[in-house]
Amino acid sequence: MSIPHAPWFTESRFGMFIHWGLYSLPARHEWVMTNERRQTSDYERYADFFDPDLYDPVTWARAAKAAGMKYVVLTTKHHDGFCLWDSKLTDYTAVNTPYGRDLVRPYVDALRAEGLKVGFYHSLLDWHHPDFPIDGHHPRRDDADAAEQNATRDMAVYREYLHGQVRELLTDYGKIDYLFYDFSYANDVQHPVWGAKGRDDWGSEELISLTRRLQPGIIVNDRLDIPGDFVTPEQYQPSGPMEVDGRPVTWEACQTLNGSWGYFRDNHTIKSTDLLIRMLIDGVSKDGNLLLNVGPTARGTLDGAATSALEGIGEWMRLHDRSIYGAGAAEFVPPADARYTQRGSRLYLHLFAWPFEHVHLPGLAGKVAYAQLLNDASEVPMAEIAPDTVALTTGAGGQPAGTLTLTLPVLRPDVAVPVIELFLV
Ligand code: GLC
Repeated sequence: MSIPHAPWFTESRFGMFIHWGLYSLPARHEWVMTNERRQTSDYERYADFFDPDLYDPVTWARAAKAAGMKYVVLTTKHHDGFCLWDSKLTDYTAVNTPYGRDLVRPYVDALRAEGLKVGFYHSLLDWHHPDFPIDGHHPRRDDADAAEQNATRDMAVYREYLHGQVRELLTDYGKIDYLFYDFSYANDVQHPVWGAKGRDDWGSEELISLTRRLQPGIIVNDRLDIPGDFVTPEQYQPSGPMEVDGRPVTWEACQTLNGSWGYFRDNHTIKSTDLLIRMLIDGVSKDGNLLLNVGPTARGTLDGAATSALEGIGEWMRLHDRSIYGAGAAEFVPPADARYTQRGSRLYLHLFAWPFEHVHLPGLAGKVAYAQLLNDASEVPMAEIAPDTVALTTGAGGQPAGTLTLTLPVLRPDVAVPVIELFLV
């Protein structure tokens, strides 16, 4: 399912999410302000020490591009309210830190220079703004006088601030291709939260029209509590192509390297590069995109885990990206331990496990003109073994009618996931 006004999105299939902000200093999850019930005055002090002297978005853009990513999405403001750009509506910005400069402008310039699409993440929640009402996610949620504090908080004032900041972001930085609003929790029956907020609180209809008016052509996610251009499963892999109300939808899974979006120094539960590549393939085989997150350090660098994951994915993508770009779910059912993706008349068989000698493809007999390993374009011989063939001591028996059998080399190609390219007739 492509987005009619932005076919680039599903063509791309793979993007980079960047969570960066004051929470990179405590380096223990981007929700640290609320997890630790921090007072605003206390948390704000991180701004006095925020000095990302090694910030160089050109290296981020190049790392994304070398990994095969086609778009990048940066947190302009996360739930803690700190703004990476030079907002005129608050002092709580990167400009008022030792670093003293707008961080968004060079980011946008770097992406454009590398030919990448430009994305912004923007938090609807704001735990810093004095008018944002305390709710079950807010750092002040356990205060005995939370209700009294709320008496002086006015959502309408915050809403105006929210819309005003979006206006700045979508006016002052040229063409923006993608906006990820985060998040609504009014109708979450699985995790009910007191004081939950949704479309009426954010003024979602108005906000999405403002977004589209300021940036014709932009794509917007689905977290405003009204439908957007694509849906955003978070930290899970859907079991098949996604649907809403029985209709197929465009989707993008966002995934972390270690469960935290912001830089988390002491969390080493890092997904292997092989697993990340399989997740990308698995998503495309179900018609989805992958937005893979990195959490840069407070000095502005990508850490070793992020760098090596990106390099490893890039190494695989260099030889296999045509099974990813513009590809989607296939019309055939793959054998065990494998995923198909399809682009037009090319079918890609991704082998998550390497079998000995034969792989049998149901329903493909007579439908394939040629087969090759994608990593080196070496021929993969094909045969149909008649159903009535009797198994011998040294010869395999027949396969169900319609099955195509491929003969693989004993040696598995030395790539993270071997792919066989099938040219359909
Ligand atoms: C969330 C979290 C958050 C993260 C995001 C990414 O809902 O609140 O910290 O930024 O999703 O999708």
